[in-house]
Amino acid sequence: MASDDLQRFLDELRARIPIADVVGAKVKLVKKGREYQGLCPFHNEKTPSFTVNEAKGFYHCFGCGAHGDIVKFEMEANGLPFMDAVQKLAHQAGLQMPQFSAKDKAEQESKKSLYEIMEQACLFFQRELRMPSGAEGLKYFSQKRGLSKEIIEKFRLGYAPNNNGLMAHLKSLGVEESDLKDLGLIAIPEDEKKRPHDFFRNRVMIPIANKQGKIIAFGGRVMEKIEPKYLNSPETPIFNKRRNLYNLDKARDAAYKEKKLIICEGYMDVIALDRYGFSYAVAPLGTALTEEQIAEAWKVCAEPILCLDGDAPGIKAAMRAVDRVLPILKAGYSLKFLFLPDNMDPDEYLQAHGAVSFAALMNKTKPLIDILWQKYTEHEDSSTPEKKALIEQTLLTEVNKIADYTVRNYYTREIKNRIYTAFKQSPWQKNKETPAPMEKKENNHAEIPIKQVQPTNQQPYRARNFQPRQTLAHNIVSQAENLRKSLNNDTDKNIRFIIAAELIYPELIDVYEEQIYLDEIEDESLKELQMVIADTYHEAEEKLSGEDLAKEVEKSNAGKTLKNLLEWHMLKTKSFFINDLRKLVEQNLKENKRRNLEKEIKELTAELKQNFSEGTYYRLEALKKEQAEMIEAAELAI
Ligand code: UTP
Ligand code: MN
Repeated sequence: MASDDLQRFLDELRARIPIADVVGAKVKLVKKGREYQGLCPFHNEKTPSFTVNEAKGFYHCFGCGAHGDIVKFEMEANGLPFMDAVQKLAHQAGLQMPQFSAKDKAEQESKKSLYEIMEQACLFFQRELRMPSGAEGLKYFSQKRGLSKEIIEKFRLGYAPNNNGLMAHLKSLGVEESDLKDLGLIAIPEDEKKRPHDFFRNRVMIPIANKQGKIIAFGGRVMEKIEPKYLNSPETPIFNKRRNLYNLDKARDAAYKEKKLIICEGYMDVIALDRYGFSYAVAPLGTALTEEQIAEAWKVCAEPILCLDGDAPGIKAAMRAVDRVLPILKAGYSLKFLFLPDNMDPDEYLQAHGAVSFAALMNKTKPLIDILWQKYTEHEDSSTPEKKALIEQTLLTEVNKIADYTVRNYYTREIKNRIYTAFKQSPWQKNKETPAPMEKKENNHAEIPIKQVQPTNQQPYRARNFQPRQTLAHNIVSQAENLRKSLNNDTDKNIRFIIAAELIYPELIDVYEEQIYLDEIEDESLKELQMVIADTYHEAEEKLSGEDLAKEVEKSNAGKTLKNLLEWHMLKTKSFFINDLRKLVEQNLKENKRRNLEKEIKELTAELKQNFSEGTYYRLEALKKEQAEMIEAAELAI
């Protein structure tokens, strides 16, 4: 049992710590394509023959043959004993090192043989498929599924007979019964009078390899119409369902080269895709897609395509994937969604319509934001303001799960735009009927031009009748609350400075508006002021000077807030050059961001203590990383 834990812990370390970081601490590495290169630390050389492959998680020297993962590197390059190397890496990953017994070490070192046993099992199943007793299996693959000899060979497909042949064969090779049990290859009945037997019987067999191509598990399919169709290996010391993707070992190179990766639902889909020329397909292992699998997929492709049936379970799977991926999104990385028509899976679709048609479908994927929008708007009633508010709130709550600061803010903005467009009605149209904001429009950003619905003689600024979107009811209690907050803990300090600067040099609005996130402003009237300033500036017919802008704003709902803005009165008395003011604004933005990060980390830490969830955990990790990067950048700047 304990060795199981150690294995898992090592997997965790490998997943968390980029190997380039570990090696990079000792060897100067230069990025060359998909690998890093450097001078080998294990032998003397002048030209680099030492490579580090981040995706595969190992280093390799073409000069001296040194080869290994992060643990081996720590052991060999730094002369550490195994457990000390693990301890050091655990520290680096910020993980508490569990207590492992001394026995584990020996077990860990003999772990190699577990892979060897699986390899032998795979060879056995492959051989059985060619035997007379396996004829039924071969017929199933070649006739029922239309697979060629080459494909059967490539995917190492096999057959498990019904005579405990595997157990007998492996025992004859000297394999212990306990290893067979640990690997899920045999089952030992609870009733002691009954004998152990092969776990997979009378099934066609699909071997599952890890990234390095080593066999770690099997999927076995019945040949008749019986449920369940598939029997999969249980979790074992070398098989982690959550972390592995079927066929990643073979799909990786093609995915990297083509910049495409298809994540489909099943083994047979992956094989069919490969057969039709889409060699960059993978599948989760009989469970829904996990965060770890997404992270693995991102190592070879920034935007994998999740290919699902267009029916209800497929849509449900897409929604679950949305939940999984939101917290871990990062700049440039996402998922795309492809729904196949007529309840078909890729296997069936390819057989019916061929590769060209499938390739065309691959150009019609939906981005994640569309699925998110669909998830929370599609069947929602939005006939009253309260219901609209609920939809907005729900969507923004979801978006808030995105840990990455920049991605989250772009999502917030995009969702707000969509809400605005969807719920916008011109005054004389209102209440005609229940609006249909959720109907999918070709272009979600197509706005009803606001100028059309305004009488032409109206003065040009919208600021005056501007309705703040987020301040529906301002009661005295919340005002007092805000005042107390702003006195005790002046979270809006930096924002006030930036707003004041905008009123001195309105050009700054163009530069910084995108970086001021309204939902991070605590004080509601300040939020309103920022919105009014931006709207007034953008809607003016000619360029406004700071003074003119301030005059207009003073006439609006936010006028009072402006008059009370000490920073503005202070800045007015000094004559800054725009570039100097800009520098100060940037400083303030940074401070503001840092403070918001701190606050969020505190909140999430508390939340995690109360209620552990993987999503929160990932988000917290990402925020901490962002914070560390910020601190580092600040230190470099000094
Ligand atoms: P599907 O039921 O969609 O099967 O399950 P499929 O891939 O189309 O299989 P064929 O074409 O009928 O052979 C998709 C995946 O879900 C897992 C397997 O990983 C399968 O590939 N699964 C399904 C199971 O683990 N057990 C089952 O009983 C069914
Ligand atoms: Mn199928």
